[in-house]
Amino acid sequence: MRQSGEAVAQSLGIMPPLRVLDLGCGDGTTAIPLARLGAEVVGIDIARNLVEAGNKRAAEAGLTKLKFQEGDACNLEGVPGHSFDMTVSVFGAMFAPKPFDVAKEMVRVTKPGGRIIMGNWIPNDPTFVSQVLKISSAFTPPPPEGFISPMTWGVESHIIERFGQAGVPKEKISMVKDTYYFASPDKSPTQFIELFETFYGPTMNAVEAAQKNGKARELHAQLVELANAQNKSKDAGTLILATFMRVSVSVLRQEDFNISIDDRLVAGFGRVHLAGEIKVAPTRVRQVYQRRPPSSVPAVTGRKVLKGAAGCICTDSTLTVGDYY
Ligand SMILES: C[S@@+](CC[C@H](N)C(=O)[O-])C[C@H]1O[C@@H](n2cnc3c(N)ncnc32)[C@H](O)[C@@H]1O
Repeated sequence: MRQSGEAVAQSLGIMPPLRVLDLGCGDGTTAIPLARLGAEVVGIDIARNLVEAGNKRAAEAGLTKLKFQEGDACNLEGVPGHSFDMTVSVFGAMFAPKPFDVAKEMVRVTKPGGRIIMGNWIPNDPTFVSQVLKISSAFTPPPPEGFISPMTWGVESHIIERFGQAGVPKEKISMVKDTYYFASPDKSPTQFIELFETFYGPTMNAVEAAQKNGKARELHAQLVELANAQNKSKDAGTLILATFMRVSVSVLRQEDFNISIDDRLVAGFGRVHLAGEIKVAPTRVRQVYQRRPPSSVPAVTGRKVLKGAAGCICTDSTLTVGDYY
């Protein structure tokens, strides 16, 4: 199945020197090919065993510029802001429980002018993984109240809302459906499903629950039937295609904020935050406006979280991208 990670890495146009974060990296399906293409890569995953396995694979492959470390996509504490040219998450960060925090953290750690690339499965898609997840969830106890389905990361409106709250306007987000290939030439569809049952979190949870209530055979049969139905291999192996949402986010540069200076009051305004929240130091804000800068500018005092503003005028022209996070 490793070829699929290689195909994703190839598609990203890696041109060293490039510092890349792979979030929810597992044991390196994407991170290892990225490092082979010459990028300096940090892989972060919440599962310690996968981090250890990744570091072992990196050492065996002699990839000295690839490091794996433990971390939670919802809170990348210890990772400095603006430290990666590219943040990649292929079916990884979508599984973290707080999607708004995930978007905010991905934007925070990516350099202005850099890119965020996510691969996310799509709800109700007829292809393989969405169907595996659908079958698996039917055998798993209902999630706790307030649980946000990872599959919502495959829905355009949610993606725009999450990155919007992180300060990225929708014009800077592109979403296309793409195809991921699961190629296991040496494994039959049944053996391929056994891999999912053993190593794929949502399926592992379903197997555990099904074993407890005597439904393990039924679950296995449904998964094997799905794999057989979707297998495109012409021989005894497995080749299965799965559709996913490829999300590409351009993180704003200073120039994107359209800072301008007025000779009367030294004003700066940003066009980028048409939706969402702006956080700026109170002493710097003179006025917040919805569409056009007003002609009179009353002072604003106190700490301000400004919702839904289209722009603000500040007492100086040093408003930077970081001011908005
Ligand atoms: C389906 S695997 C994908 C792994 C890898 N990106 C790949 O393409 O093979 C999902 C990964 O997300 C990780 N993960 C889940 N929740 C996470 C979180 N809150 N923070 C970081 N990683 C997380 C899991 O441990 C797992 O390795």
